[in-house]
Amino acid sequence: MIVLGADHGGVKLKEAIKKYLDEQNIAYKDFGTFDENSVDYAPIASRVANAIVDGEAERGFLCCGTGIGMSIAANKVKGIRASVCSDPFSAEMTRRHNNANILCLGGRVINEEKAVELAKIFLNTPFEGGRHQRRIDQIAAIERGEKL
Ligand code: RB5
Repeated sequence: MIVLGADHGGVKLKEAIKKYLDEQNIAYKDFGTFDENSVDYAPIASRVANAIVDGEAERGFLCCGTGIGMSIAANKVKGIRASVCSDPFSAEMTRRHNNANILCLGGRVINEEKAVELAKIFLNTPFEGGRHQRRIDQIAAIERGEKL
């Protein structure tokens, strides 16, 4: 299960990713928004991020104007590793090395074709584990308030 959310700045990218998910018969839940009327991104990021940490979905997409506000908000939720990417290499590496569970995209940075290209990579690239798991564990320790 995939979860998606966007504000007005990212809604076109979200719709493009949904079209791809439909074509692939991949199940998803869409937390809105559904048009280009201005909305705040943080509540949408919160809903998508919590759906993941609650086990409702494995991964998600959050789209806003830059992807940045969505990523800052989503990363406040314990267990979320949200990455803003605008190139294929970063989208691949954030799965391989960071085990990212949310990909954030900017509708004022990339077009719909690029968003779908990055979404495909994000969904199809595994986490490498190994030494990278140790680093993910260190991030979790920071979340628990530990000073490393
Ligand atoms: C909305 O204008 C814009 O600030 C938002 O979409 C996003 O880019 C924030 O990071």
